[in-house]
Amino acid sequence: MAHKYAQLAFTETVRAMQQEQNSRAGYASMDQGEDYNFLLSAVEAEFIAQRDSLYMASVSETDWPYVQHRGGPKGFLKVLDASTIGFADYKGNRQYVSAGNFRNNDRVALIFVDYPNKRRLKLMGRISQVAEDDWQTLASLEDDDYRAKVERGFIIKVEAFDWNCPQHITPRYSESEIESFITPLTNELSELKARLKQQLKTQQSASLTNEGLAQNSSIAKTSLADYPQNSGEGELPLVISGIRQLTPRIRAIELRHAKGQALPAFEAGAHLAIPVILSDGKLTHRHYSLCSNPNRTDCYEIAVLNDHNDLKIANELDKSDIEESGSSTIHQHFTLGLQLNCAQPKNYFPLEQSTDPVVLIAGGIGITPIKAMALTLTSLQRDFSLHYCGRSLDEMAFSDRLVRQLGDKLHLYVSDEGNKLKIEKLLVSAPIKAHFYFCGPQKMIDQLLKLAQQHGIESCRLHFERFEHKIDASAKSFTVKLKRSAKQFRVSAQESILDAVLAQGIDVPFSCKTGECKTCVVPVAKGNVIHNDECLTNTEKANKLMCLCVSRAAQDTLELDL
Ligand code: FES
Repeated sequence: MAHKYAQLAFTETVRAMQQEQNSRAGYASMDQGEDYNFLLSAVEAEFIAQRDSLYMASVSETDWPYVQHRGGPKGFLKVLDASTIGFADYKGNRQYVSAGNFRNNDRVALIFVDYPNKRRLKLMGRISQVAEDDWQTLASLEDDDYRAKVERGFIIKVEAFDWNCPQHITPRYSESEIESFITPLTNELSELKARLKQQLKTQQSASLTNEGLAQNSSIAKTSLADYPQNSGEGELPLVISGIRQLTPRIRAIELRHAKGQALPAFEAGAHLAIPVILSDGKLTHRHYSLCSNPNRTDCYEIAVLNDHNDLKIANELDKSDIEESGSSTIHQHFTLGLQLNCAQPKNYFPLEQSTDPVVLIAGGIGITPIKAMALTLTSLQRDFSLHYCGRSLDEMAFSDRLVRQLGDKLHLYVSDEGNKLKIEKLLVSAPIKAHFYFCGPQKMIDQLLKLAQQHGIESCRLHFERFEHKIDASAKSFTVKLKRSAKQFRVSAQESILDAVLAQGIDVPFSCKTGECKTCVVPVAKGNVIHNDECLTNTEKANKLMCLCVSRAAQDTLELDL
């Protein structure tokens, strides 16, 4: 027996058209074999039961088809048996076009669409109105929880149905479907908020009970309500216009000009010094790479990793721990509308101007300058690849966005999934003349530099930025003498000369604190230096200049021209 759907829908003209368009052969099989597409199976019944809307066509006396959208509670169209479906006609539209058409022509066509899963079912049948006194059938069509008045009921005897291909169905989601996706996320958010609140409480009480700490500083004086709404002394007034939680520990902050003006243009690799008022009330600055598209001048975006959990517990806090608390201050106190007066963006990590291929490597939060570079290279149509490593995918900020924007130029390495970046392999397989740009933890950068040197990659092709400078575990304490200020003090094994000088109340300029910007460079009056910076040339080192933020004394005493 021919397929009933083909019998009804494939008229002579339709078949001729299929022939013309070379699709006839594909549908010819529907003219033979056993027909089953007039009896609804459990699959169709379940599909119909899950729908809360459908499109229904009737035929008018003028031969015009009339298509109507019908909606109701999920499963409002009932499958009564394998060849019968029906629905209650609720009070609403008063045109009665479909109901009127059915009095004259009982042909009806329905389309059910499952938008999220891109599936659709087309069905044809004969419709009849349920008799007003057929209470049993009417009751079987009603929805108990749906508060609308039933005006009549309709029964459809199924003549044929067919499943359609998913092409050209845009996935759409109903409110309840979206809610089912969001509920686990909002639950997780509430849980994280509760945990954060608890951690803050613990941190505050620990800070207050730490006697030594309380005597040496006035930590934990700034409460949430006290945080200044306007801070910083820079000439660029920025206002926080958006905050998004990218991962459990990373938050993106969008900044716009306070007066709505265009922002100064910046190049990939640039960073912004963000004023932060620490809990002791002191103004300090934290440096964050601009990760937004450098083509945009309407807003800047930075991403801040909250390293609070990485701090030692309160009774082990020392000065360096306090210094690190800038990011947790940002997470706790930065809210929409807060004004930050910043200096113009600075760039110590620019892309070189050439057409050479580029290999970008990012570890963790090191993705921020690398992301801006990838966007610039994309718009310049330069040959590049981006290799982004992290512990777990949900800790890797922007990974979803980058997948969409970069396609196969992006390579993700998730160590929790056993997929680690093989740095050596990457270095040796990179295109000839490729320039490498990398940003990430010190360990990763040190490893990259070591391997690059082993494989003879010229240093002019290696560009990197550290987002932290950790003092070597083997570092020793030493004495620093200041020639012009006539001061002398010890620098402990755990602190930098810069921090020790600042602690003496001597105002020296600094910026990156990672040995990349040259802002803290001073002349050495006497003594030898272990240079740990990335910015001084050999000539500058020979001329007895040093970076206070990362370099150290080679012997027990070092005299500076300060
Ligand atoms: S502060 Fe940038 S090199 Fe020292």
